[in-house]
Amino acid sequence: MSSNDGRKRLVIAVDGPAASGKGTLARRLAAHYGLPYLDTGLLYRMVARAVLDAGHDIQDADAAAAIVASFDEAAFPDDSLRGREIGEAASVVAAMPAVRSGLIARQRRFAGQPGGAVLDGRDIGTVICPEAGAKLFVTATPEVRAARRHRELTGRGEPATFEGILADIRRRDARDSGRSDAPLKLAEDAVLLDTSALTIEEAAGAAIGIVDARRAGVESPPGSAGGS
Ligand code: CDP
Repeated sequence: MSSNDGRKRLVIAVDGPAASGKGTLARRLAAHYGLPYLDTGLLYRMVARAVLDAGHDIQDADAAAAIVASFDEAAFPDDSLRGREIGEAASVVAAMPAVRSGLIARQRRFAGQPGGAVLDGRDIGTVICPEAGAKLFVTATPEVRAARRHRELTGRGEPATFEGILADIRRRDARDSGRSDAPLKLAEDAVLLDTSALTIEEAAGAAIGIVDARRAGVESPPGSAGGS
């Protein structure tokens, strides 16, 4: 385990589509470099949860904008946010410009900690931390992602079929990539890590290799990191 103590500050941006494994990898990177970690998807999930709990329609952009201005992160237990329905609702509010802009300051504050931080999401490398020292774009085929999410949800006792999850993932990919504000896309200087054929250990090793190469100033050609 190498810590970042005494080194120059390090911000690591980890982006990618639903169930690509980016959360697991971001947590591994945070532990490896001794950095704090923020799962930015949880912020969008909290806004969606609060909109629904207040009885508003999930498409109600005014209600979502009002909530984002004042919500308290501590009010949302993690297990109320991880479900399938909230992931879907989060991607609806995440397409609203007022929601995105209302969440920028918290994310940048987190990234601005003295030693740096690891953040995962959809727009970390492109919008939130364009100056991040290392950027990964983690992906996998829709079928592999659906199988992972299916295992995760059924493991938690949430009923789901593989086909239903695959349809969710395709719909979310289309919404997250097609929105006009901060769409999910590969930052120019991000390294693509395809985890389709990798175990968690292999993917974590590849992710650390990418970050170490960036810190050493070595270029890793985009697309070269996964599956080899
Ligand atoms: O875990 P999973 O990848 O399924 O979802 P998540 O990372 O918790 O994100 C839920 C939704 O929030 C995504 O589908 C995105 O629409 C949105 N999101 C976003 O727009 N920007 C981020 N930085 C993080 C999440």
